[in-house]
Amino acid sequence: MFSLKMMASMRLRKMMTFIVTLMSAGFCLLIKLNSDRLCIFCQAKYEVISYKRDSGNFLNQPHVNCSRDTPFLVILVTSSPGQSNARTAIRETWGKKGLVANKRIVTYFLLGTTLNHNDHMAVTAESVKYKDIIQKDFIDTYYNLTLKTMMGIEWIHKFCPQSSFVMKTDSDMFVNTYYLTELLVKRNRNTRFFTGFLKLNDRPVRQWLSKWYVSKYEYPGNKYPPFCSGTGYVFSTDVASQVYNISENVPFVKLEDVFIGLCLAELNIKLEELSSKQTFFPERLDFSPCRFKKIVTSHFVKPYELRTYWNALEQSMDQECSGG
Ligand SMILES: *[C@@H]1O[C@H](CO)[C@@H](O)[C@H](O)[C@H]1NC(C)=O
Ligand SMILES: *[C@@H]1O[C@H](CO)[C@@H](O)[C@H](O)[C@H]1NC(C)=O
Ligand SMILES: *[C@@H]1O[C@H](CO)[C@@H](O)[C@H](O)[C@H]1NC(C)=O
Repeated sequence: MFSLKMMASMRLRKMMTFIVTLMSAGFCLLIKLNSDRLCIFCQAKYEVISYKRDSGNFLNQPHVNCSRDTPFLVILVTSSPGQSNARTAIRETWGKKGLVANKRIVTYFLLGTTLNHNDHMAVTAESVKYKDIIQKDFIDTYYNLTLKTMMGIEWIHKFCPQSSFVMKTDSDMFVNTYYLTELLVKRNRNTRFFTGFLKLNDRPVRQWLSKWYVSKYEYPGNKYPPFCSGTGYVFSTDVASQVYNISENVPFVKLEDVFIGLCLAELNIKLEELSSKQTFFPERLDFSPCRFKKIVTSHFVKPYELRTYWNALEQSMDQECSGG
């Protein structure tokens, strides 16, 4: 009786040890895969991080004199060193230099740095060739996207405050610069204007494995302030200086669009729709020339699709669309 009990308890202990070992292994694997997300352990890390203005020099930046050649719209595209194909496609399509409805539009790419030597050299060469890269010395990772966006805002504040509007978008987006310009001119709002795909009731994702996971240490609230999807938002240029000015007083969040939303809340700048119909799409839309004539953004577009869509759009400019 006694020995049976002992055997049972020994087996139980072994089993417990086994389970604990298994759990620890799984846990370690999780930490390895998600070191940025498992933020119970990063508590200290997030306490020290806050955005610092004026940190670091620009490694690369466009050669442009905005007071002489004043852009109507500056499009800032977050991009990574390895995405040169996407940048090439954008330069040939919606990002090409020139005038739309007599308004100057310029497109610049926001990049961090990479430890990959070949990519690093390629970016430097690309910058010399096209002079459209804005780059500072921070590691280019998804979790440094807020730094990247703020670098763009700093650049506008310092080098192109004369422009009228700024757009921030990503390198896998379709942007209809024709329709965007038309709507901005029609809307005629020149200060404290901020638009895009409005997210008015978003909550922090608390699932560890999600790309959007945010710990309670990083963001204690259970609701985000209103913000615009980072896939594409547009603002009057004065907002850049105001956001830059206030950014150090705003708790750092790695989700750049939420961080900008926090800055706007602090500045009491309200989000507005650009048009009575939806024009900013954070998802992928099926292409048709008539549909894409009346939108500003669509997501998940591959470089070859971008060229196809853009050519079809430009060729159909003069064609009538029913119900348009
Ligand atoms: C930019 O252009 C303005 C007006 O032509 C000129 O006064 C200024 O010196 C230029 N700035 C630079 C840095 O070249
Ligand atoms: C962001 O960039 C800084 C500066 O290069 C680097 O120390 C840090 O590890 C990066 N953060 C992430 C989460 O990659
Ligand atoms: C920057 O902020 C300070 C106070 O926080 C304010 O006095 C100043 O006008 C602001 N500047 C801009 C350009 O918004």
